[in-house]
Amino acid sequence: MKQYYQFDEWNIIENSFDAHYHEISESICSIGNGYMGQRANFEEQYSGKTLQGSYMAGVYYPDKTRVGWWKNGYPEYFAKVLNSTNWIGININIDGEALDLANAEIGSFSRVLNMKEGTLTRSFTASLANGKQVKVDAIRICSYADKEIGAIRYAITVLNGDAELTINPYLDGDIKNKDSNYDEKFWDAVDSSNTADLATLTIRTRKTGFVYTSAMKFQITQSGQPLSLSPIIENKTKFVGHTVTVSAKANQTTVIEKIVSNVTSRDHNEASLVSVATELLNNAFERGFDTLLAAHIAVWANKWNESDIIVDGDVAAQQGIRFNIFHMHQTYNGEDSRLNIGPKGFTGEKYGGSTYWDTEAYCLPFYLSTADQKIARQLLVYRHNQLERAKENAKKLGFTKGALYPMVTMNGEECHNEWEITFEEIHRNGAIAYAVLDYVRYTGDTSVISEFAIETVYEIARFWEDRVHWAARKGQYVMLGVTGPNEYENNVNNNWYTNRVATWTLEYALELVNFLKTNEPGAYTIWEKQLGITQTELSKWQHIIDNMYFPYDEELGVYLQQDGFLDKELIQVKDLDPSQLPLNQKWSWDRILRSCFIKQADVLQGLFFLGDRYDLETKKRNFDFYEPMTVHESSLSPCVHSILACELGYNEKAYEMYLRTSRLDLDNYNNDTEDGLHITSMAGTWMSVIKGFAGLKIESSTLSFNPFIPEEWKSFSFKVMFRGALLNVQVGANSTHITNESDHAVQVILSGKRIEIPAKQKTTV
Ligand code: BGC
Repeated sequence: MKQYYQFDEWNIIENSFDAHYHEISESICSIGNGYMGQRANFEEQYSGKTLQGSYMAGVYYPDKTRVGWWKNGYPEYFAKVLNSTNWIGININIDGEALDLANAEIGSFSRVLNMKEGTLTRSFTASLANGKQVKVDAIRICSYADKEIGAIRYAITVLNGDAELTINPYLDGDIKNKDSNYDEKFWDAVDSSNTADLATLTIRTRKTGFVYTSAMKFQITQSGQPLSLSPIIENKTKFVGHTVTVSAKANQTTVIEKIVSNVTSRDHNEASLVSVATELLNNAFERGFDTLLAAHIAVWANKWNESDIIVDGDVAAQQGIRFNIFHMHQTYNGEDSRLNIGPKGFTGEKYGGSTYWDTEAYCLPFYLSTADQKIARQLLVYRHNQLERAKENAKKLGFTKGALYPMVTMNGEECHNEWEITFEEIHRNGAIAYAVLDYVRYTGDTSVISEFAIETVYEIARFWEDRVHWAARKGQYVMLGVTGPNEYENNVNNNWYTNRVATWTLEYALELVNFLKTNEPGAYTIWEKQLGITQTELSKWQHIIDNMYFPYDEELGVYLQQDGFLDKELIQVKDLDPSQLPLNQKWSWDRILRSCFIKQADVLQGLFFLGDRYDLETKKRNFDFYEPMTVHESSLSPCVHSILACELGYNEKAYEMYLRTSRLDLDNYNNDTEDGLHITSMAGTWMSVIKGFAGLKIESSTLSFNPFIPEEWKSFSFKVMFRGALLNVQVGANSTHITNESDHAVQVILSGKRIEIPAKQKTTV
């Protein structure tokens, strides 16, 4: 896509209206607060192409699975992130004609996502068919300070003459998911009430029974004075609205402030929803738009203070990285351990379910470094809470023990239904165990091990024991019929990455057992009993660790993605006719599967996770072999390559991959941004700056940096939190400064040298 949004450090700016980009901008400029989110739809009616989207975290619908040929073990349903009550709507009529940008002549137009303050603003002038010219300035928030509150200020001015304005703020619960499998509606009406100054609407999801109440109030002012209103009340099934008609003089601005509260039975007793929503709304309405806005901006200021990355000398890169950080914060706030990070967040519907391995493999490091550790801890708690379901899932597939976490889930149950992924892409289990290591290594908080994480890791290890298979002729353990992270090969034998991460989990489980035995014998005794730990089982795991088969080619010195990889015709992407890309849109699936082309990091994913076990030469040989065959058609791909390229000193490649990840949605690289944003890969972008360019690692419990700066940048700086300390790291072409903003001394390793930075001091190297 051509560069559509103006480069700006803090804002995403659309400076003119092009209906072809409207749905893309609706995704890009989405706002959210970890509890609810809203696409950047227009408040007033729009009859052009649009994906109206309002989403509440954790509210889902089990849409009946749709497959061509049913296979035993398939999940019955696919959990859909639910599009819910449209709470932003304000229809406007001017002298009897609807304001609808699809039918008006647009003069000026701008839609701006202000990432610093978390606001969406829109300004335009338009001429209607009846000759009336109007100017609109609108701003809205999903409040980060009051999570259930959404607030809109909508100012309209008729520029050429006096006019009658008919204003219709409403709540519409008659919503359908665009991705509904059988074209069904997922919501039933429950209740509505409508008085002159308050409207409430309650709806319930079919099957899952989530009840959702919205309450709305509004006021209209002219020349700063509130008007006394006698609205016409509309109260239909799943719809409540107010209609008022006001006279406006030429050039007089009429301001509508609409405040809404949205609450669900996930958080409140069903019977109390209307009263809770009303109370929250009354309180917010009394404070008024400006006060709500100020509180919201203050929360964002704090978030940026802890997690901003500043790039000097490259506005496109600066905008890209802030865009990614912004959407990560909008998607997940760690307050609720039942929630997770959906690949589309609150920006679209595609990818039902909320949780993929993306969370552990890509997102966890972001929250570890940019927020209090309790936020990252919630992600471990989330998986542990779903352990029983993961055990059921393993049983359902015929395993005798252990836990197999789902590929996609909302509540712990698997809801992905392509056999090559559901049944075979089991490497996901390893990432969930790896997250425990990542968390403990970063935070030093070992309490999670005895509290619950030993159980998660142990049950995953049990699954691997059951899944590997002793190949008598080889005299080694093998793993047959899997799909690795590279989904462009299915049903392969001995995917190196899967064998590697499985064996690693067994090692880590043994390590945790020993850790508890030595450090927390009391806790160990309890877990030994509860988990039924036996020496026979532990010895079996050791036997697997010692005898696992890892495909390797001596001549090339590379790990083989799978047993048959070298039998393929090995072609590099650069030798492909560019018109053939992206392969997933141009080639038949069969052709892709037979080819050597790789969707995303696979062997390299393992070398990234277990980087401290492999020397640079090994990483280099594997990178040189696999990257040229990689098409990066998963949004998760470029970041891992960028990080490894940094480590290998492939600076140009590192920057090329970084750009691809950081502006993936802004520049619509994958041609699918209208469906929603690639939220989980955004954390990968953050990693490619912090783990890639800044080279952040943990070495013997110490934070270590090995910075490098892309030629295109003058300097970059970022904040990281580490074990109660907040560090501000500035990397320049010739020097790195680290300021310890906390009130205790911190040790770091900078380019191989261990240094201590006293409290509130700056060190330069
Ligand atoms: C990737 C998976 C990922 C999923 C959701 C797929 O395209 O291949 O690794 O989990 O998207 O982001």
